[in-house]
Amino acid sequence: MDVAPGIPVDPVISVRNLHKWFAGVHALRGVSLDFARNRAVGLVGDNGAGKSTLISILAGLYSPDEGEVYVEGRPVRMRGPRDAMELGIETIYQYDSLVPSMSIARNLFIGREPVRASLFGVGILDERRMRSETVAALSAVDLHLRSPDAVVAELSGGQRQGVAIARAMHFKSKVLILDEPTNHLSVKETNKVIDFVRSLGGQGVTSIFVSHNMHHVFACCDRVVAMAHGRVVLDRNIGETSIEEVYDVL
Ligand SMILES: Nc1ncnc2c1ncn2[C@@H]1O[C@H](COP(=O)(O)OP(=O)(O)O)[C@@H](O)[C@H]1O
Ligand SMILES: [Mg+2]
Repeated sequence: MDVAPGIPVDPVISVRNLHKWFAGVHALRGVSLDFARNRAVGLVGDNGAGKSTLISILAGLYSPDEGEVYVEGRPVRMRGPRDAMELGIETIYQYDSLVPSMSIARNLFIGREPVRASLFGVGILDERRMRSETVAALSAVDLHLRSPDAVVAELSGGQRQGVAIARAMHFKSKVLILDEPTNHLSVKETNKVIDFVRSLGGQGVTSIFVSHNMHHVFACCDRVVAMAHGRVVLDRNIGETSIEEVYDVL
C-alpha cells in the first residue's frame, strides 16, 4: 500500500482475497485492500467493474463467497446492514438511502429509534427527542431545512444527500461509504458533497468515495483505487498519480 513515510499504517478496514459470484458472473476476483484511518479513498472504474459489489460487502448487504473482511484488525462476518452499522460503517447510496414518505426526523433515526416507556410499559417512540436531535444533526452539517417534520419526498436531491450525511455524522460512524453520491446533484450541491468528503479525515472519519468522475475524486480524496473486471488495477496516493494515468488503466 502507498502510504507516505512516517505515517503509521493503521487500517480501519482490510479486505483479503475477496471473491463474489452472481449466477455465473465473477464480480470480484480476489480483491485485497487496506483502508487507512481518517483517509479518503476514491474508488473508480467502469460500469460492472465490481465497485458496488465491494462496498455492498463492507455495508453488510452481501457476504463474500471467499475471502475475509477485517475491521480494526478483527475478522468479521456481517449478516446484514445492521451489523455494519454496529461496527461504525455507514453507507450513503447513489439513490435514496431515505424513505421518501417519512419525515426527516424519522429517517434520521431509522433502525435506531429512541424509545421511552409509556404508562402501560409499552415502548413508544420518543418523538420530541428525535425532533430536537434532528435539528442539531442537520445544523452540524450546515444543512438548514424548514422543519424536522417535513416529509423527505419534498426535498431536493442535494437536501436528501445532506440528510443521509447528517445521519452518518450524528451516529459517529467510523467509516463512511458514499456510492456515487453526486449523481443527480446540481454543481453547487456536488461541490458541497466534495467539501464534505474533504473534511471527513479531520473529523476522524475514514471514507470510501465511489465515483465515475475523476475530477471529483482528485478534488477530495487522499488516494485512488481503480477497479476493472473485478480486480484492483491501480492503487496510488493522489499526489503520486494523475487523472491521465488512472484513465489509462481503465
Ligand atoms: N445482484 C446482482 N445479481 C447479478 N449480477 C450482479 C449483481 N450485482 C452485480 N452484478 C454483476 O456483477 C458485476 C459487477 O457489478 P457492480 O459491482 O455493480 O459494478 P460497478 O458498481 O463497478 O458498476 C457486473 O457484471 C454486474 O452485472
Ligand atoms: Mg455501482
